Amino acid sequence: MDVSDLRREYRKSRLERESLRTDPLDQFEQWFSQAREAEAPEPNAMCLATAGADQQPSARTVLLKYFDREGFVFFTNMESEKARQLSENPRAALHFYWQTLERQVIIRGDARPVTRKEALAYFVKRPRGSQLGAWVSEQSRIVSSRSMLEMKLEEMKRRFADGKIPLPSFWGGFRVVPREVEFWQGRENRLHDRFLFARCESGWSIERLAP
Ligand SMILES: Cc1cc2nc3c(=O)[nH]c(=O)nc-3n(C[C@H](O)[C@H](O)[C@H](O)COP(=O)(O)O)c2cc1C
Repeated sequence: MDVSDLRREYRKSRLERESLRTDPLDQFEQWFSQAREAEAPEPNAMCLATAGADQQPSARTVLLKYFDREGFVFFTNMESEKARQLSENPRAALHFYWQTLERQVIIRGDARPVTRKEALAYFVKRPRGSQLGAWVSEQSRIVSSRSMLEMKLEEMKRRFADGKIPLPSFWGGFRVVPREVEFWQGRENRLHDRFLFARCESGWSIERLAP
């Protein structure tokens, strides 16, 4: 299939040096709020790229659950493929594409496991079905059939029928602590605006990159 004629011009906005915040987390907060206001679908869905000791890159979507002065937090199974790779090599990249706004943000940094306390604080807020799902799924392992998963779900429902669902020992989260953050705004004729924030001694340096 040839899709070479699928293309569009990006004309919605522009990004100027003068309008950038000095801290990329403030800039991200502003763009994230605008993505929500623009009703970008699942604005917190982000692509997480990792590579373990074999240096083979892997990428998959995860949901950003919150961000703070330290970094960007997502939750997952700590025995999954992504967690195994991050234990071998904490370097990670996150990627957001907000098509509605013709924007992308790319974050590079180290992924550090959150504490059990922090994981628990989020786990208790999850819907019961998601909490059960965490117990059921040995994420990234081979399963013989869907019915095995459904049987295990019924077993977990019985096991925890009488009360709160505890945090599984194998479930937790990571905080990606940014070293570099790039903000990309699509422009006409492929002359997009790109600004790269990089951590330096005095805080953050900011450079414009060629599109
Ligand atoms: C929109 C969307 C959101 C997802 N959010 C998460 C998430 O927050 N955490 C997670 O572990 N997996 C999430 N997944 C599933 C992952 O993409 C992936 O299949 C799973 O984490 C296993 O990845 P791994 O085998 O590379 O570890 C999401 C998938 C999609 C499409």
